Amino acid sequence: MTDATHHDGSTPTTGLAGAETAERTGRRPDSLADIRETYADQAETVARMRWLDRLLVGRYRRRLFERATGRVLDVACGTGTNAEYVPESAEYVGVDISPEMLREADEELRRLGRAGTLAEMDAQALAFPDDSFETVISSLSTCTFPDPVAALDEMNRVCEPDGQVLLLEHGRSSVELFGRFQDWRADAHYEKHSCRWNQEPLALVSQSALALRESSTRLFGVITAIRAEPG
Ligand SMILES: C[S@@+](CC[C@H](N)C(=O)[O-])C[C@H]1O[C@@H](n2cnc3c(N)ncnc32)[C@H](O)[C@@H]1O
Repeated sequence: MTDATHHDGSTPTTGLAGAETAERTGRRPDSLADIRETYADQAETVARMRWLDRLLVGRYRRRLFERATGRVLDVACGTGTNAEYVPESAEYVGVDISPEMLREADEELRRLGRAGTLAEMDAQALAFPDDSFETVISSLSTCTFPDPVAALDEMNRVCEPDGQVLLLEHGRSSVELFGRFQDWRADAHYEKHSCRWNQEPLALVSQSALALRESSTRLFGVITAIRAEPG
């Protein structure tokens, strides 16, 4: 990863990014009930297609999440895909809004033979006290949160002052032709998947309370790996 210099230190503006990114798709954010419904339908398929995820983004997950230490919170853990990449020495805690995704995560922990705790929870209102985790991780999920900056601020809050927040996000491609295609299909993509696929992950982080420390992009700018610290 390269050293980041572009955290602008601006005042956190909870809600603004939600509005901005929704504007990008021309749609209002889905409700939590809509999101639950979307993932109730997708949980089994997502778990079955884990081999493809491993092929496409497994190495990026490994490179980033092998740095997790201590008590680790995986926000929007989905089917528990990250559990494989977090070191065995760490204590794994996963939360997600979808009971169906959590059921798959439970099976994944069992398959890996790894201990862990799972709970149904909204990323935008985490039910943990301040400074509860040495590491907070999250992957491919800010695109679905109704208010992504509120969720990033929650990650900031529950992370210990000396801890770290590791994010693997996807967003608008730096290949302009593909980026324009993403813009053109943004509404349709959001409607089908509850996913703002042309979002700018680094812009979201800069609007949150987090202090960006390192970032790197891969796969034509679509994947961004981020290491931040509580701000
Ligand atoms: C694209 S999946 C990614 C799952 C997993 N992190 C991964 O990398 O495979 C997005 C996940 O975000 C969860 N999610 C969406 N909104 C949420 C919210 N407000 N709170 C908690 N989880 C949420 C969904 O239920 C889904 O499991």
